[in-house]
Amino acid sequence: MTENQEHPLTDEERDARVLALYEQVLEIEQRLIPTGLHVFGRASDQDECADLLRMVASFDRPEVGARALPRLVAEGLGLRLGTAPMSAEESLRERERVDAIVREAVACFLRGGIDEACAWLETTARVSVEQSRSVFVLLEKIREQLQVNGELDSLSRALCGEYIEPGPGADIVQNPGILPTGRNTHAVNPYTVPSDLAFARAERVVKLLLERHAAEHGRYPQAMALVLWGLDNIKTQGEGVAQALWLLGVRPVRDAMNRVIDVEPIPLEQLRRPRIDVVMTVSGIFRDLFAATMGLLDKAVRCVAQLDEPAELNFVRRNISGQIDAENCSFDEAALRVFSNAPGNYGTNVNFMVMDSQWDKDDTLAELFVTRKCFAYGRDREGRALEGREAPGAMKRALSRVEATYQNLDSFEIGVTDVDHYFEYLGGVSKAVEKQTQARPAIYVSDSLARETKVRTLSETVRLETRAKTLNPKWYEGMLKHGFRGVAEIESHVANTFGWSATADAVDGWIYTEVANTFILDEGMLARLRDLNPHSARSLVARLLEAEGRGFWEAEQEVVDRLREIFSLLEDRIEGVA
Ligand code: BEZ
Ligand code: MG
Repeated sequence: MTENQEHPLTDEERDARVLALYEQVLEIEQRLIPTGLHVFGRASDQDECADLLRMVASFDRPEVGARALPRLVAEGLGLRLGTAPMSAEESLRERERVDAIVREAVACFLRGGIDEACAWLETTARVSVEQSRSVFVLLEKIREQLQVNGELDSLSRALCGEYIEPGPGADIVQNPGILPTGRNTHAVNPYTVPSDLAFARAERVVKLLLERHAAEHGRYPQAMALVLWGLDNIKTQGEGVAQALWLLGVRPVRDAMNRVIDVEPIPLEQLRRPRIDVVMTVSGIFRDLFAATMGLLDKAVRCVAQLDEPAELNFVRRNISGQIDAENCSFDEAALRVFSNAPGNYGTNVNFMVMDSQWDKDDTLAELFVTRKCFAYGRDREGRALEGREAPGAMKRALSRVEATYQNLDSFEIGVTDVDHYFEYLGGVSKAVEKQTQARPAIYVSDSLARETKVRTLSETVRLETRAKTLNPKWYEGMLKHGFRGVAEIESHVANTFGWSATADAVDGWIYTEVANTFILDEGMLARLRDLNPHSARSLVARLLEAEGRGFWEAEQEVVDRLREIFSLLEDRIEGVA
């Protein structure tokens, strides 16, 4: 705080800082987190149901004629919710007031049903019964569907070879039509992707993404690397795909049957910014599900590269023609931008290498990523399909211009520390860029489902997830109720967090310090973990020691000594010595 002593804060600066902190605390508090594992065949409990219903009610549902409950409340109270000029403090107060009313309205609905909730909202916030009824009718249907669970029954019928009704695969908040669960999940018609809604939503995300990069780095990125996953694009009807199209500055073209079959450039006067070069690293699942979409993305790059536009407004054209001139290569070679695994292969294996501690230099992870993902898809100028041609040189060349990497997160349920796949892909590609450019790219993620669209840096996201989940007693106590498996989940979150150190150095030291304090150096907690699952407890300690050993965490020597001691005790316990 020496800086503050030299330049004392003005009252306004102090207030702005306190408000910014308060915003962050609210953000953590309002994040929907799973407070336990899903037990196959078991229905949601009352608290979980209330959280989900509130979340569902926070979005407009035009398909059932229901508007977002927070908006109805704000309108009823005559609040402006940030739409008119107001101080940050006023805006926060308004939001808090609205959130409290929405929370109570949902609680009232759960206690007394639709009529009572509508009447309460009319009295409290002057929301007309006509408007609120459609919201609560939807919530009532969801509540009923959450109370029954036919998963076990469906499984046993499926095992007997009986017919299982189909149901869409999506995030419950985005599409409550996934209920009831226990149906035969069907995917998507790739020709509908991206949907009009996904394309409209992507415009805002891309604008925020580019503005954020420009604010932090002084200009737009001349090239970006994007991760595209299959399941996420199913759930969001192609938001990731739409974001790639917006970065390139093209829009989808539909045929008479409303199938997306082509792209057309958005004129620069309309786009009002340069077209960004994009390298797309596509999962094996995406490749299998969205073959036509991969073709579309490749077509988009080639289309943009051939537009007669100034180099400073068309980075795709500038990069491709620059490469053709400098390296005397073909247009087809310089325009490769859509990469995935070899046909029939999946994953980057970066996660396995990190989890098994089998790498010595950063380059090893970068090389592995490129080796696994350097298979090019699309068509050449003669229209011949590339069908996964191995092209490590072209991929490295494309990555050598990248200044920012990005992935769209599709769901509240699965975030960057829940599974090892985010760091294997987004971390992996960022490491590969770092190797080619000798500089770490800016790394961004966005929450496509958050109420307010937000683009965050990876480090911010790791911090947010750590606070909302790993270090949140509500989350880890929920996990510990599951005993052996719960400890394994906690350990897995720490290992996935470590994955972000290994691939992107995106984990603050305090995170490891607090993980050690919470789970290992607290004697009561250590005893619980040890008794429930000594194997995962040992792995957690080993991971902390590895973080320290690899220089990702500067721990005090006595902490390291104590961790080593605990590691030995856990080893003895597992081997039956103690
Ligand atoms: C996918 O949906 O493409 C995906 C899912 C899990 C891990 C990696 C990719
Ligand atoms: Mg996901």
